[in-house]
Amino acid sequence: MCGIVGYVGTQSTVDVLVAGLKRQEYRGYDSAGIAIIANDGTISSAKKAGKLQALVDELAAHPVREGATGIGHTRWATHGAPSDVNAHPHLADDGKLALIHNGIIENFSELRAEMLAAGHDFVSETDTEVAAVLVGHLYRETGDLRAAFARAVIRMHGAFTLLAMHSDEPGLIVAARHNSPLIVGFGDGENFLGSDVAAFVAHTHRAAAVGQDQIVAITSDAVTVTDFAGHSVMLDEFEVAWDASASDKGGWSSFMAKEITENPDAVANTIRGRIDAGLVTIPELAELGDDFLKGISRIIVVACGTASYAGMVGAYAIEQWARIPVDVQLSHEFRYRDPVVDASTLVISISQSGETMDTLMAVKYAQEHGARAISICNSQGATIPRESDAVIYTHAGPEVAVASTKAFVAQITGLYLFALHAARVRETLTHEDLTHNAAELEAVPAKIEQVLTTGSTVAQLAKWMSDTPAVLFLGRNVGYPIALEGALKLKELAYIHSEGFAAGELKHGPIALIDHGQPVFVIVPSPRKSAVIHAKVISNIQEIRARGARVIAIAEQGDAAVLPFADEVIQIPLADPLFEPFLAVIPLQIFAMELAHAKGLDVDQPRNLAKSVTVE
Ligand code: AGP
Repeated sequence: MCGIVGYVGTQSTVDVLVAGLKRQEYRGYDSAGIAIIANDGTISSAKKAGKLQALVDELAAHPVREGATGIGHTRWATHGAPSDVNAHPHLADDGKLALIHNGIIENFSELRAEMLAAGHDFVSETDTEVAAVLVGHLYRETGDLRAAFARAVIRMHGAFTLLAMHSDEPGLIVAARHNSPLIVGFGDGENFLGSDVAAFVAHTHRAAAVGQDQIVAITSDAVTVTDFAGHSVMLDEFEVAWDASASDKGGWSSFMAKEITENPDAVANTIRGRIDAGLVTIPELAELGDDFLKGISRIIVVACGTASYAGMVGAYAIEQWARIPVDVQLSHEFRYRDPVVDASTLVISISQSGETMDTLMAVKYAQEHGARAISICNSQGATIPRESDAVIYTHAGPEVAVASTKAFVAQITGLYLFALHAARVRETLTHEDLTHNAAELEAVPAKIEQVLTTGSTVAQLAKWMSDTPAVLFLGRNVGYPIALEGALKLKELAYIHSEGFAAGELKHGPIALIDHGQPVFVIVPSPRKSAVIHAKVISNIQEIRARGARVIAIAEQGDAAVLPFADEVIQIPLADPLFEPFLAVIPLQIFAMELAHAKGLDVDQPRNLAKSVTVE
């Protein structure tokens, strides 16, 4: 949600700001704007509701004046509808101050009343304009942007990343973060701010995350950081592991199409460096200590959406290999249920962005109640890993499409690596089983490559089904979370009702949904190694076929038992049961994308959705 970019330097500030916003489009937004302290000493700005192109068109018709200092913003509406007037930046102090904001200022009404009483007025419905007017009001008292900003941020409650600049102090941007992301980019004679590294990765790979309740001031040649009390703080600089081209579409019809083909590399790159002599060792877990892993009595996985389904898949592996009970909980439910958490609890958060507020708050809650926390995250320097006791980074590369694909398989990979690392430490698997499962994991990328070749068949299926009003997904055991994920993909991309069920649940209600021609995807377990569950799923298929369902089965090559009962069969390579999820999910990703294509929908930025949900 919301993309932020700040720049002080000698390049074309308009170009740097617009390009930085474009690289963050995937964060989700419904208006955009920029403001620059122009070379004539005044602030020049433009903002438009709609997609970034509307702002680009506006800038072509009414160019803003260039200057060395600028801020830009893509807004995902919270307070106030998407409109030109509610778009950021917001101006104050007679147009001499410009401010942008990501998050929600929960006490904005109180502050707005205070500013109205002080004689100020407002033109928008937003909490952000209240922040701008407050900083402008304090600037009149202090004559110093850093001082005004520091006094303003301690008055605000909620979640915010704020950037402000004042025309009396050109060449300076002051920013702060509280429960919302902010990254600094270090250039040569220029410096950058962004919601994530995509804002400036085209210009520098040197970055650092601003910490909670910290204020950063950037000029073209200096970056200074303090906490909200004014004490100096040092940032931990890191090297961005990918370059700008990785976040380009690269000739693909959509980022999602590109990222589905990157599923194999996402698994391979997440494994890399973590299997030695056939055994999994995760260096990042060393600081937790083996004794801690031996002493864990329970694991709680906290995540949202697709990440939570990855957690459900990983839970099977952790329980079967490391023999630790695992409870997967939706982040936004976890901390309001008065959960049982103590020092022997390990909380594993799963988050592609590392900025999902619900998951961040769940991690903090668990730590406050004595648990240790491991983050599985795809975004370097993000807030959740920074708040955790250890992090297992996935290396899927930047995932730009809102619908998660390669990050999902990378998350499962991270969980399987953890499970095998813990099983080795806890000695719950033999050396043979440890090495066998590690080898199975290393074989996954090549098997996904094989499944990707079914893309054209799945695309044709999607075209035939483009007018279907509803699709159901069935799975059992480790295939059940894949059914849920397949349903979510279809909801968020094709905007049609779809639902995933545990196949055994059918007779307890959902079978009433089966009518003639109802499309049902069924994830069929291996007949070789899951014979009992396989037989039950075949029975489930017969039950729905008998009631008119149109069955699309995802089954392993050579599974003859499914053929008489399925209208379509999408074959996947042979794999041990726990490794089938990596393969069965691929056709479902492709199906959802192709059906959205067939309906002429925006595959990369589905309506109402944001890539990172940074508000609760
Ligand atoms: C998945 O396609 C969605 N984009 C959404 O469910 C996402 O997985 C969820 O919001 C969690 O995001 P995170 O992994 O960045 O925490």
